Amino acid sequence: MAQTNATGSRIEGFYKLDRRQRLERLAARAGLAPADISSLLTSTPLSFEVADHMVENAVGVIGLPLGVGLNFLINGRDRLVPMAIEEPSVIAAASHAARVIRDAGGFVADADPPCMIGQIQLLNVADPAAATRRLYEAAADLLAAANRAQPNMCRRGGGATGIEVRTLRETACGPMFVVHLVIDVGDAMGANAVNSMTEAVAPLIEELSGGTARLRILSNLADQRCARASVRIPSALLAGEPLTGMEVAERIVEACAFAAADPYRAATHNKGVMNGIDAVAIATGNDWRGIEAGAHAYAARKGHYGPLTEWHINGDALVGRIELPLAVGIVGGNLECNPRVQLSLRVLAVHSARELAAIMAAVGLGQNFAALRALVTDGIQRGHMELHARGLAAAAGAPKELLEDVVRQLIASGDIKLSKARQIVASTQVAR
Ligand code: MEV
Repeated sequence: MAQTNATGSRIEGFYKLDRRQRLERLAARAGLAPADISSLLTSTPLSFEVADHMVENAVGVIGLPLGVGLNFLINGRDRLVPMAIEEPSVIAAASHAARVIRDAGGFVADADPPCMIGQIQLLNVADPAAATRRLYEAAADLLAAANRAQPNMCRRGGGATGIEVRTLRETACGPMFVVHLVIDVGDAMGANAVNSMTEAVAPLIEELSGGTARLRILSNLADQRCARASVRIPSALLAGEPLTGMEVAERIVEACAFAAADPYRAATHNKGVMNGIDAVAIATGNDWRGIEAGAHAYAARKGHYGPLTEWHINGDALVGRIELPLAVGIVGGNLECNPRVQLSLRVLAVHSARELAAIMAAVGLGQNFAALRALVTDGIQRGHMELHARGLAAAAGAPKELLEDVVRQLIASGDIKLSKARQIVASTQVAR
């Protein structure tokens, strides 16, 4: 059952409220403390002192809008989704898609246990078959050696859980031998732990394989740590003049077939998916470059680059699905020293990395649905232009009571620029 009370994610007219009113609504829904609101209103997102400890040669902190994706109903639970992104329309599109999907019963989403892969590259392995046998026979010793390098992670229930041995028969530098260490990293993204563990076991792996270890590093193709989401949208919810719902559904399926057949389209299709996923990744302090790398490698796993989502028609409904690796954490140094990230995690109310990954998969699917629906009906520019006009009207100083009128005039003028918005604001104020 969808929650419609004060903990729900549906907040009607949120975009029309001023900042303080939005924060009050958000605080009430997400159970934020007054200190959270005043921190959002008054303090800088990240102090320079913290930034200076995070990276080298720091000179400042850069800003990015932080908004909230509304209406998300995921596994029967309402979620307010913090999204940090510079691109207009993305948050509105996600919220709009989530509204339609909410009426269809919401998203179903889940994520694998948080298992990362650490790779150890070996050269000069004279007898790969014998080396493979010896490594598998010594798997328990290898896991123990890896786990000794991260005792705290093991105490929290994580740690290395398995090995995989692979031979790359043909590379530009001859055959190579690769050992994968599979590691349950718990609620962290896990990069540091994985890298430490691969470095710790490399000498033992050299001994057992007779080879020379070179690279010892995690793989961003975290395909044992996938998240997935699906939706089933009755076609009646897709109808919009002059198209029937089933026509819209068919067009979305055709758009997806285009992406499956053409990497030029697939790249843009997936960019739309990642608009949502990256925005949540940034708001929650996660490594979006790692997520991007994993997503695109996964999109090419079948030997050609394809879409991360699938859409088909089943009976009278449009059915969509997404699956991708999502190596994300809710604990770890960088997340813990960033107060805005902590706030975003509180707004999301997630208690595990798996929960966060499942939500992000749902947001990616919703974002893709929004983009495809717009592309197969009005085209993407109409919505973009409306939002752009709204931003310009506000920047031109349109008072709240005139905003809608100024936006309408600006769109009608076909000259959607700040100078035009200023002119309209001035003439509208004179006319009153
Ligand atoms: C723009 O940021 C994203 C889209 O191009 C995605 C798509 O084409 O599917 C609208």
